[in-house]
Amino acid sequence: MPAKRKSIHGEWSSRLAFILAATGSAVGLGNIWRFPYVAGENGGGAFVLVYLLCVASVGIPVMMAEVMLGRRGRQSPVNTMYTLAEDERSSTHWQYLGVMGMVAGFLILSFYSVVAGWTMAYVFRVASGVFDGATAEQVSGAFTVFVSDPERLLGWHTIFMVMTIIVVSRGVKSGLEQAVRFLMPTLFVLLVAMVGYAMSTGHFSEALAYLFRPDFSRLTGDSILAALGQAFFSLSLGMGAIMIYGSYLSHTASIPRTAVIIAAMDTSVALLAGLAIFPIVFAHGLEPELGSGMVFKVLPIAFGQMPGGTLFGTLFFLLLVFAAWTSAISLLEPMVTWLVENRGMNRVMAAAWSGLAAWSLGVVSLLSLNVWSGYTLFGKSFIELVEFIATNVMLPLGGLLMAVFAAWVMSRESSQDELHLSGSTYRTWRVLARYVAPVAVAVILLTAIGIL
Ligand code: PHE
Repeated sequence: MPAKRKSIHGEWSSRLAFILAATGSAVGLGNIWRFPYVAGENGGGAFVLVYLLCVASVGIPVMMAEVMLGRRGRQSPVNTMYTLAEDERSSTHWQYLGVMGMVAGFLILSFYSVVAGWTMAYVFRVASGVFDGATAEQVSGAFTVFVSDPERLLGWHTIFMVMTIIVVSRGVKSGLEQAVRFLMPTLFVLLVAMVGYAMSTGHFSEALAYLFRPDFSRLTGDSILAALGQAFFSLSLGMGAIMIYGSYLSHTASIPRTAVIIAAMDTSVALLAGLAIFPIVFAHGLEPELGSGMVFKVLPIAFGQMPGGTLFGTLFFLLLVFAAWTSAISLLEPMVTWLVENRGMNRVMAAAWSGLAAWSLGVVSLLSLNVWSGYTLFGKSFIELVEFIATNVMLPLGGLLMAVFAAWVMSRESSQDELHLSGSTYRTWRVLARYVAPVAVAVILLTAIGIL
């Protein structure tokens, strides 16, 4: 059994700090921007049900596997996979799982920063009161005008990426930990208040039925894949973000308990976001298929009508910026640790270079929303294509391979020792990670590409 390793990048000050950071990574645009619009595009109810099933049966066991690998390897995902494969006398090609994760993180960060830029712009828009009393058409129109202006998008994208680089360059304790402590609980409270407002629109039960009454006729291979991808995206799984955060976790903390807490918090935020948004959608006669602009087309209507909406809405978008920020840093972290370990860079340079690279690709995404919107592949614009490949293909594939490594390649002794589990709980995890998660992911991926 290998000796307990130490990470050269630091360690969390407590288990709570890890939970906060991992929740900060998980809760982000994925919950509030992405979940409602993907649910709307895939017909609601049945999608939500599959999503919840994916979180419970694939997400939680994969999260346990990912944290466990991180804590045992204690390096960048690439070197962690290399070292652990050596420990288990397996092929060191497993390091390419870390490489794929790094690439996925890079792709996600590139468009994530663009969308985070939208939320920043909306802090100021809502604060200026432009949405006071605005109709649904005016709010939608304002969003359309906004995304067709590349210069404006570029400014916000740049500011957000610089903010991300700054936090990551400050390192684990001073940078990553502090941001999450107060912001996440506040966001949660605000979201609950929004649901309260949504209840008063008189369309709450319609939204409940839409989200929770499954209409299986709307379930297709593509929508099941979308639900799986959304589960991985929202839980930050399959690319090494949770692995690198796990590598800063102390040896004494319980991995299973933390994984369940993080998944539960992340899922509640997504469901609350749905319950806040859909009643307003129905109250204003909008269609649920509003696409990726959904939150920006729907919430400002409510902020423009409710008492104190300007203040409340400003605060809401501000917290969304922070939620996106704490997720973005975890997207950059795996690349940064790899550059530090393998290229001898210091943290600041590593953060700056990788951030600049992701920024550049983000510029292409940003232009694909307006100037280059005519160029499409498989009916998708560049930004949609990057989002699809990274989220629906790379993350599930990464998660599948992590589960395979943790439950097939790693010895029973190693995983038991690292998870501090025994008896039936350990057996349950092992069955989920050995069979359920890999088979589910493989079947969904193969069905979606038309092989099964
Ligand atoms: N989970 C984040 C969100 O929901 C996005 C993310 C994906 C972060 C993958 C890290 C890794 O917004």
